[in-house]
Amino acid sequence: QTILSQTDFTERDDLTYPFEERGLQFGDGIYEVIRIYQGSFYLLTEHVNRLFRSAAAIKLQLPFSKQTITNQLQELLAKNAMTTDGIVYLQATRGSAPRTHAFPAADTPANVYAYVKDMPRKREEIINGVSAITQRDIRWENCYIKSLNLLPNVLAKQEAQENGCFEAILERDGRVTEGSSSNLYLVKDHHIYTHPATNQILNGCVRMRVKQFAADLEYPLTEEAFSPEAIANADELFLTSSTSEVMPIVMVNGKPIADGQPGSITRQLQTAYEADAQ
Ligand code: PDD
Repeated sequence: QTILSQTDFTERDDLTYPFEERGLQFGDGIYEVIRIYQGSFYLLTEHVNRLFRSAAAIKLQLPFSKQTITNQLQELLAKNAMTTDGIVYLQATRGSAPRTHAFPAADTPANVYAYVKDMPRKREEIINGVSAITQRDIRWENCYIKSLNLLPNVLAKQEAQENGCFEAILERDGRVTEGSSSNLYLVKDHHIYTHPATNQILNGCVRMRVKQFAADLEYPLTEEAFSPEAIANADELFLTSSTSEVMPIVMVNGKPIADGQPGSITRQLQTAYEADAQ
């Protein structure tokens, strides 16, 4: 497999990583997961824009322009003759340097790599819906940065899986922020609610599109956090992400949402997503 390393292409097996590396030792870096449908990127511009926002937020100088990385990611798909459904994973760290907390010398180049991976759509879960548990959001105050520091997210997702669930719904100070790797939405009386895009959530690229789908379908979407207690009386609940698309949540903490079936507004947003992702 051909991968993108630094600013050039190389074979996957030729890339070695030094152990004194800022991403490995400090999680000092950022990443993106970009969806590919039948060999074409979905929401590439949105992901590249967010990558640059994350880089600026951690004072990381990326060694390319938006246009250059966009072209290189397209080239990466071409070199791998990608025609199926998949993702590109891209990460950028503050580089390789002797371990010390403060930034390395200013001329230390960022370490960047990107690779493609096959990833079929989660059809079964998208159709039938998934279950979730609620958990306390113990993350830091800058969740708008797509940082490599994912330990709280990893622990939350593991707890969900050990309880037979797909996702952990994170709650902070009596409000649902998002999922461990997704954005969260509640539907009540034909009205959609989701946490505002503050520093407490990652503003998902799919989330940005869902706002447009809701507007097109003329369902009001309010960026206002809802409480974990409101979930018990929700008409519908769903999550979004690049890998999960628009996914119904039909059970939370062992209790069904409404009649335990994916809701009609969720279904309409799924249809809008399918059309958009074509
Ligand atoms: N995660 N919130 C968090 C904490 C996330 O990690 C993600 C995505 C999202 C949704 O963002 P988007 O719609 O841009 O995919 C929200 C990716 C898929 C991951 O870490 O694998």
